[in-house]
Amino acid sequence: MSQFLQDVVQGLSARDKFLNSKYFYDQKGDKLFQQIMACPEYYPTKCEMEIFIQQTKQLASVLINHVSTFDIVELGAGDASKSIHLLNELLQNNITFTYFPVDISGNVINLLHEELPKKLPALQLHGLNGEYLQMLEKAKAASDKTKVVLFLGGNIGNVPLEKAGLFCNRLRQQLSPGDLVLTGFDLKKDPRVVLAAYNDKGGYTRCFNLNLLKRINDELGGNFILENFAHYPNYDAATGACKSYLVSTINQQVQIEESSFSFAEGEPIFMEISQKYTVEQTDDLANENGFTPVKHFFDSKGWFLDALWQCV
Ligand SMILES: C[S@@+](CC[C@H](N)C(=O)[O-])C[C@H]1O[C@@H](n2cnc3c(N)ncnc32)[C@H](O)[C@@H]1O
Repeated sequence: MSQFLQDVVQGLSARDKFLNSKYFYDQKGDKLFQQIMACPEYYPTKCEMEIFIQQTKQLASVLINHVSTFDIVELGAGDASKSIHLLNELLQNNITFTYFPVDISGNVINLLHEELPKKLPALQLHGLNGEYLQMLEKAKAASDKTKVVLFLGGNIGNVPLEKAGLFCNRLRQQLSPGDLVLTGFDLKKDPRVVLAAYNDKGGYTRCFNLNLLKRINDELGGNFILENFAHYPNYDAATGACKSYLVSTINQQVQIEESSFSFAEGEPIFMEISQKYTVEQTDDLANENGFTPVKHFFDSKGWFLDALWQCV
């Protein structure tokens, strides 16, 4: 049984049904995510892009001041549309490094290998297709230089708050004292602004969620009828958890290979969390897991934080 099938069967057999959001990213999912990033309501990309465009020189110089020679490993690189500004700035300063973009989507890694050499011909590029931490091991095996890890776009927000410490701890175990980590955190803000970002008027986030059901149909022989599921995002301003669900609109059975799953009318499948943080929570996450916060980079609205941590 493939890992994808195992995870889907496990999630849909649970009392509270869920699917793992890492499976959103097939070729169609990658494209839909780019469309989401371009939506007027989807502020996180715009805020973090502003940091990478307007504070590129500060970002580059703080890295250079902390580590002399290094490689850059970007976890969940996507289209690298933000990090490309930092890579370019480092190259302009004649800094020699290898860029290891890591992504679970093979399509993303292929696209980066096609596009980045056209935009940054001097870049030493080594794409790694797979899970974050497994691929970080491969990057370490390929080069023993100090690591600068980028984990942008609020990807850490896709880890539930109660498991974020464990993730940071595992990341720290794989790194060495002196290594740097730059993590994007979407900060708590007006709940209406947050919710609108996951409920865009163009319906791209809805399609992005439903596309996982289509992927299960295409790759695992499922028979989901997409019209029988409604996209339902919700945001709890107290905990900072923004969660997306697909809710069954009727009583129905869905078949996937040998397994059959019943859905009651109104029953949700939990699809993804996008956790929002306070600045203090991000500092605590660093301090409790073997890092020291070095510098905070905020956008001009103060909605998004790129936090630079160093391994102690
Ligand atoms: C929300 S997108 C963000 C992309 C990029 N970091 C940005 O800020 O624009 C998440 C990316 O992480 C990748 N991804 C998600 N889960 C992953 C995992 N467990 N291991 C490796 N890549 C993953 C996805 O394929 C996708 O390209």
